[in-house]
Amino acid sequence: MRYLGNNIKMIINNLSVSLSDEGPYYAPAIIFIHGFPFNKHMWNMQVEELKDDYRVIAYDIRGHGDSDSGNEEFSIKLFVKDLVCLMDALKIDKAVLCGLSMGGYIALNAIENYPERFYALILSDTQCSADSPEAMAKRLKTIETLKRNKVKRYINETIINLFAPASFKTKGKEIAAVREMIENTSIQTLCNAMLALSMRKETCRKLSKIKVPVLIIVGKEDIITPPSSSWMVYEKIKDSYMIIIENAGHLANIENPDDFNYQMRMFISSVKIDME
Ligand code: MLT
Repeated sequence: MRYLGNNIKMIINNLSVSLSDEGPYYAPAIIFIHGFPFNKHMWNMQVEELKDDYRVIAYDIRGHGDSDSGNEEFSIKLFVKDLVCLMDALKIDKAVLCGLSMGGYIALNAIENYPERFYALILSDTQCSADSPEAMAKRLKTIETLKRNKVKRYINETIINLFAPASFKTKGKEIAAVREMIENTSIQTLCNAMLALSMRKETCRKLSKIKVPVLIIVGKEDIITPPSSSWMVYEKIKDSYMIIIENAGHLANIENPDDFNYQMRMFISSVKIDME
């Protein structure tokens, strides 16, 4: 039995996970993985764009949105296991995977370990490098700040870095929605996920093994994972395309959904998908 809708719960990998599963059941599946510290609703505009033609899944990574945290220590490896268990539970053998930032770290690890499960990747505003020692130290300091309940300060600093300066004049509603997503993320998840991000391994050396089409997409004014990080990924993946989105920072799909959706759709329609 299929539970269709945009806020359904399923037990996956011993965890209650919240997801949306929309569009025709037998259509090719596109799975969206959000960044940190957001939730599945960051993909609302992409789900709307695709759901008439594709089966579109967006889910909350453990601890985020409406998914439970579970008891295991957060890691990219665990997030990948959750993703594969989700695909199994939804009876999706193979999908196109789209991840933004942390979602991209998960997508790159997923294709490294389960290459047979994916037709193609869309890597948005992400990178293949691990944290530098300075970046790691900064995250540990932020965790300390959060533990002292300085959440408001963290959120304000985060919001400033997420968007292109012009978006603050034109995208008030979208920025408020992202702020709400961050505000609704527990301090425990903020700390645990940040620790997992700081411990992640680099994936740059494995990129040449990727044999599926890859679209790399990045906001021109992304200062968290700038276009230079995307170029690095592009140069290492043989069958890849690179698109820079104007008028966008780190959340290119939210700041410039028209251009993002156009590029995403063009790419997906070019991918060879063999449905059994
Ligand atoms: C994200 O948007 O997922 C984060 O910026 C990733 C990170 O902090 O490395």
